[in-house]
Amino acid sequence: MSKDSTFTYGRYLRLDQILDGQRPLTDKHDEMLFIVQHQTSELWMKLAIHEITSAREAISNDTLPAAMKMLARVSRIFEQLNSAWDVLRTLTPDEYTAFRDAFGAGSGFQSWQYREIEFLLGNKAARHLETHKGHAAYDRLETALNAPSLYDEATALLAARGFDIETAHLNRDVTQNYTANDSVRAAWLSIYQNPKAHWDLFELAEKLVDFEDYFRRWRFNHVTTVERVIGFKRGSGGTSGVNYLKAMLDVVLFPELWDIRTEL
Ligand code: HEM
Repeated sequence: MSKDSTFTYGRYLRLDQILDGQRPLTDKHDEMLFIVQHQTSELWMKLAIHEITSAREAISNDTLPAAMKMLARVSRIFEQLNSAWDVLRTLTPDEYTAFRDAFGAGSGFQSWQYREIEFLLGNKAARHLETHKGHAAYDRLETALNAPSLYDEATALLAARGFDIETAHLNRDVTQNYTANDSVRAAWLSIYQNPKAHWDLFELAEKLVDFEDYFRRWRFNHVTTVERVIGFKRGSGGTSGVNYLKAMLDVVLFPELWDIRTEL
């Protein structure tokens, strides 16, 4: 604790900086909602990155209790982000259109923290790096792209615990999207068929599924809110808009963990 008696709540939390950061570009009432919604999302994403990065390290060190605690927190963060869409859903198309032109080509598409989360989770669409060329976030994103994902570390742990995981899969090019592998599927299947024998790995798997479940809901809530507010107009970031976002709903992060459910 600081011994400085002038140290206050506001100084600790840097509220002057944070609360000075909402600068609407128009005099339209609803622009403030739009700004605060994005900024709070970015703050929660900052915490999510902090937790996912440490969870990945804990998995690689085989300290699963710590990893699971952090993954549980990340799921709760996404639950929080999911609830937040209810606030944005109060924004009607006319209210949005009133200030939309002010931010030109600005788009959540350019959120480097969101992209880092995707990279950490194994959705390694390298083309997105381009968007951040010349920005301080580029190096972070490149590091995340070149590093094993959270799930790569989980599959490496399966091998370290004695499951027969294909060597070529363990040495896969981690800059590419993760693709399902039969030896990983077989390992998770045997864990799910006998959870008591591999309790911590079973729990880890369920924490990963839980998280992907919440993450999918975030994507779904986003695209539904977008359709509700702008319909099928093109996105400010230059994509087809709703159709682009709908295609993202098909991304599966931890495929074998979903596949095996059919066989159980
Ligand atoms: C009325 C509100 C919103 C609208 C109309 C909207 C619209 C869109 C559209 C059309 C895209 C596709 C890219 C483009 O062409 O622009 C997109 C992407 C994205 N938006 Fe939103 N958005 C809204 C709110 C939010 C909020 C609150 C966040 C929270 C940070 C957010 C984060 C993102 C992210 C991360 C992407 C990239 C998704 C990906 O590449 O998979 N958006 N948004």
